[in-house]
Amino acid sequence: MQAQTISELESLFDQQGNDPYFGEPVSQLEHALQCAGLAERAGADNDTVVAAFLHDIGHLLPEEAGMEFMDGYGTVDHERLGADYLRKRGFSEKVALLIENHVNAKRYLVAKYPEYDARLSDASRKTLEFQGGPMSAEELITFESHPYFNEILALRRWDEEAKETDMDLPDQAHYLARCQTHLHERLQ
Ligand SMILES: [Fe+2]
Repeated sequence: MQAQTISELESLFDQQGNDPYFGEPVSQLEHALQCAGLAERAGADNDTVVAAFLHDIGHLLPEEAGMEFMDGYGTVDHERLGADYLRKRGFSEKVALLIENHVNAKRYLVAKYPEYDARLSDASRKTLEFQGGPMSAEELITFESHPYFNEILALRRWDEEAKETDMDLPDQAHYLARCQTHLHERLQ
């Protein structure tokens, strides 16, 4: 099961990893590697590095995988899709929650810091509307008490920074090995 999951992830990156990352000068795979690399450099734990590497996996899943999880969502949102896909394959709740909340982090930051809103790209501001807009005062308080609040915000920062064109980083195999270690520790 673990080996199958790792080769499934590998082929998702092989098939879709060269797609551009939404109008940015990096590919999906480069974006994932940079995000994981930034987490690693910051000394994050393995769950957080794995979450950083896989945070956009929902975008790489084939349409059929989306159908599997569509019930009750109305629209498929990629962060929840990715989180559920990984939960089902034995990844930890922490990995799933970090991924699931990366859009909430944007809704939080926009509500909390007006200057953050000014920095968002047009595309990001547009999607924000569909994602529920800035958090209400009540939502802010709930979000701040999330057990992984700090990691969720850190992941958001790395996500935004992971758009460089010449970052020197380990390759896909290195982070897939970290995913394997994660699953191994969880399932043994
Ligand atoms: Fe991302």
